[in-house]
Order: sequence, then C-alpha cells, then structure tokens
Amino acid sequence: MTENPPHIPVMVKEVVSLLLTDPSGIYLDGTVGYGGHASELLSRLTGGGFLIGLDRDASALEFTEKFLSEKYCRERFSLYQLNYKDFPKVLHERRDHLLSGVLLDLGISSINIDDADRGFSFQKEGPLDMRFDRSTGISAAEYLKQISATELARVLRDYGEERFHKKIATAIVEKAGKGEMNTTFDLKNAIISVIFGKSQLKSVARVFQAIRIALNDELKALQVVLESILSHLATGGRIAVITFHSLEDRIVKQFFKTNTLTCICPPELPKCVCNVVPRLKIITRKPILPTQDEIKLNSRSRSAKLRVAERI
Ligand SMILES: C[S@@+](CC[C@H](N)C(=O)[O-])C[C@H]1O[C@@H](n2cnc3c(N)ncnc32)[C@H](O)[C@@H]1O
Repeated sequence: MTENPPHIPVMVKEVVSLLLTDPSGIYLDGTVGYGGHASELLSRLTGGGFLIGLDRDASALEFTEKFLSEKYCRERFSLYQLNYKDFPKVLHERRDHLLSGVLLDLGISSINIDDADRGFSFQKEGPLDMRFDRSTGISAAEYLKQISATELARVLRDYGEERFHKKIATAIVEKAGKGEMNTTFDLKNAIISVIFGKSQLKSVARVFQAIRIALNDELKALQVVLESILSHLATGGRIAVITFHSLEDRIVKQFFKTNTLTCICPPELPKCVCNVVPRLKIITRKPILPTQDEIKLNSRSRSAKLRVAERI
C-alpha cells in the first residue's frame, strides 16, 4: 500500500467545487505533483470523466502513478512527465476533445523543499540543483557560473523583489567564478556575507526563490500555457490557478481580465471597431485565500491565492 502523499494540497475543497462543472468531462491537472488535487477530482468523476496529469518531476509522477492506481481505475487517468506549457502534445489521446477544466497549482511540492538533494532549500545543505526536471537543462550551480552579475541582479530584482539585488548578485557571481558555488550553503553564505541584520534570512529566501523561477523558466511557462489553453477549453469549462508569488498572480489576474474585455478600441473612437469577443467570465472577483484553519494545519499554504475563470 502506498503511503499518504508527502505534500499537503492547498484549498482542495475550494478547487474541486469551483473547477468541477461536468463530472463526465476531461480535466487537465498541469501540476499533478503528488496527486492530492487529482485524487479529489477523480473521486468525483463519473461516466466518461477522465483526468490527464502532467508534471516535470519524475519522482512525483512515480509516486502518483502508484497512489492513484490503488484508488482509481487505471482507465480513468493518464500521467505524463511534461512541462504544462506543452500540454497539447498529449490531448490526442483523448481524441483532442475539449477540456472541462484545467488546474495549475504552481511552484514546488513541500517534499522537494525538504529534500536536501534537490537543492531548493537553504535550511539543508545539498547540491545546488533546483531543477524541477533533473533530466534536462543545467543545475543552478552551472547557471550561476554562466550568468553575469548584471543579469543576475535583474533576476533577483524582478523575480525576488530583492532590494539589495546588485550587492548580492556581485557576491554570488564572484564566488561562482572562483568555483565556490556548488551547494545550497555556498549560495546562502554568499548572500549573508553581504546582507546584515534582521532581513538577512528574508533576502536568502527571496534569492533562492528568484533563482528557482529563472532556472525553471516558470513565468514564461505560465504565460505560454495561458495563451494556448482557451482554445482547448469547452464552453462552460473552467481554469483554476493557485499561485504563491505576486508576479504569478499578476500574470493570471491580467490574463483573466484581458479576456473578459468586450472592447479594446481607443477611448476617442466614437464607435467600437475592434470586434473583440470576450472569452472568459471571472468566477472569483477577488482571489480565494486559505482559511486560518488551513494555514494552521499547513503553514506553507499561507501565501496561496486561487483564481478561477470560465470559458464563454
Ligand atoms: C505545488 S506542487 C503541486 C502539488 C499538487 N497539486 C498535489 O496535490 O500534490 C507544484 C508541482 O508543479 C510542478 N511543476 C512546476 N512547473 C511545472 C511545469 N512548467 N510543468 C509541469 N509541472 C510543473 C512541480 O514539479 C511540482 O510537482
């Protein structure tokens, strides 16, 4: 018997009740991870209901394959190691039927943060890797050897909103140039060598997060999937996105808003000539946040925001 998933899914009830509009529809979980949301969705599917789960992380998929197979008929779901931005590649399996719902629960599973070997945590020493998919691309250690201090400063400013981005970038690139940037503690120590006082650990967290986002090209993947998803979503089908970072939330909010517009003509035009057809209706005017009870049980849920929109 597979043990319980090592990741506690966030706002499960809210996701299921807002996303599932047709129990016999096809659902795409683009970040299936350890299967928490997927399992709840599968438990409510009936008839021809089917779930496609994607993740870049091979170890998460290995667990989820066993976990879901023990609970649900193997004919009801399929899992792929794939970047969610490439989801159209697997839709042929369902004869390219339109999707009834799409879930993106962005970021990282808690078990990956806790596993020193993955290189995401500044609390444990491990190789400086940080890749979601370790079979492709370069590790964070390699990335920091190749990047200039100017470019890294931009990454820390844009993705980490780190005030001391220039100072920290210079310290990191200098160490990397000397071959002294190989572990998570090398990175942490480079940051705390130039940042002092109370904000030290906050800067460390922001820098780790910024490098992870850049290395895995997370914001680009989100933009790409949003751009292409609506043409695969059935009328009445919904998209639910859980974000953990203000930049991700801004991208989702803006995308939803842009697709609800009924006219994009310049205000000085007396009559509409753009013929824009809105493609979405927003279901969550304000993002849904975890309850205090959920945050007490799972402190990592505290920065989560859920937004849902419906294809019209
Ligand atoms: C917060 S976890 C999802 C947890 C999942 N909802 C559950 O219930 O276990 C985010 C997952 O997204 C995956 N991921 C991040 N970026 C991805 C991408 N571009 N394509 C596919 N999976 C991605 C990560 O590997 C991680 O497993």
